[in-house]
Amino acid sequence: MENKDIIVKNSGVIKLQSFDDFPDGNISIAEGKKSVPFEIKRVYFINNLFNKKSVRGKHAHKKLEQIIFCVNGRFTLDFDDGVNKQSIVLEDAHSGIRLGPMLWHEMRGFSNDCVILVLASDYYNEDDYIRNYDEFLKVVNNIK
Ligand code: TYD
Repeated sequence: MENKDIIVKNSGVIKLQSFDDFPDGNISIAEGKKSVPFEIKRVYFINNLFNKKSVRGKHAHKKLEQIIFCVNGRFTLDFDDGVNKQSIVLEDAHSGIRLGPMLWHEMRGFSNDCVILVLASDYYNEDDYIRNYDEFLKVVNNIK
């Protein structure tokens, strides 16, 4: 996955420095304001994704910056800036996708061993979420 493959706005590929010590493991490093373009205030991970029909996300953030990684297994990320939409399979542990402001995103198609890691620019704040797609389209298109 390269930057040129990303067509939605406020996104991009973040490639972490990674050392491959096969068969003794890989190490990948994320540093705030270096490989990650913001100060990291919060980290969360999602695991135990055993429901094949599960769809997570289904929201956009007004201001929050996040980088989403699939550190094990794979899943499909659907993301949408209100005009352009795309779907990509995340399966490369050290390549994350920037989920900048005003990007509707959904995660689906999780492998049983999928582990998602997210680095976020701010603390959890429900007021920063837009959880209704029609509202998202209105805000992003500046419709009152
Ligand atoms: P949500 O962001 O909707 O998860 P996803 O986008 O992966 O589907 O969060 C799910 C629940 O977890 C929701 O009740 C809020 C809570 N939560 C926190 O309390 N703090 C956090 O940092 C996050 C990410 C979620």
